[in-house]
Amino acid sequence: MDRYCVFGNPIAHSKSPEIHAAFAAQTGQQLTYEKILAPLDGFAAAVQDFIAAGGKGANVTVPFKLEACKVAQALTVRAQAAGAVNTLHFSEQGIIGDNTDGAGLVADIVANAGVAITGKRVLLLGAGGAARGVVLPILEHRPAQLVIANRTVATAQALVEQFAALGGAGVVSACGFADAQGVFDIVINATSASLNADLPPVPASVFGPGTLALDMMYAKEPTIFMQFAENHGALVRDGLGMLVEQAAEAFAVWRGVHPQTAELLHAMRHRP
Ligand code: ATR
Repeated sequence: MDRYCVFGNPIAHSKSPEIHAAFAAQTGQQLTYEKILAPLDGFAAAVQDFIAAGGKGANVTVPFKLEACKVAQALTVRAQAAGAVNTLHFSEQGIIGDNTDGAGLVADIVANAGVAITGKRVLLLGAGGAARGVVLPILEHRPAQLVIANRTVATAQALVEQFAALGGAGVVSACGFADAQGVFDIVINATSASLNADLPPVPASVFGPGTLALDMMYAKEPTIFMQFAENHGALVRDGLGMLVEQAAEAFAVWRGVHPQTAELLHAMRHRP
């Protein structure tokens, strides 16, 4: 059987084995998918060991997504743009590094939440790795505006410059949280603030009755950001859909077949 895995540290909490097992059953693909705890100073060696043991591909999570760029011998356009790799494909051409996080987020917004991005005003909170990974997939849907707000404005400005030549010119702009002006159709929290039960200090006026507010973080309880957005009239969504969709996209990269996600997402969301 073809072997796949997810590398991370920590990794015990990962839902990826369960998600990929469900996709394999649904599509009739014969494969195994396991969790591998890579030592903090031993990611590259862990990848080589897995390849030597017959591994065909791997997902990569915290804290190895940047290191995975270096382990890869070639990067897809979206992995280059993201500056991070969450999917490795061990092919005859060598180790290919890809990034399916942004495609997963966009699929969750457009297909699962049923909210079009085209022509909309989008506010992206954060300018770190998670934010950078979603800029290109969002731009591919041609929003009217993509405002990147960050605590450190210079980091957001650097993203504006990076993406100017990739469809971002005249569309992407940067500002501080307090300077986000007007109501947005879609607000995405890509900061790591929710990890510390913290809230990026955006004005409540960015949310309106039709706003979709999405936190990339996934936890049992709604994050503080989701509570804040909901209290100001937004429809809210956590990162579970993105997690399932990035996995579906990785599965498609490896196996050439894109699994259906609706049933699994529903089951995971309504599990007691
Ligand atoms: P990740 O890979 O999760 O994106 P990262 O690259 O370290 O992690 O980026 C973290 C992001 O969350 C950054 O945009 C960071 O803002 P700065 O660039 O100013 O550091 C943002 N962030 C982290 N903690 C935050 C907080 N408490 N409030 C607001 N933004 C925060």
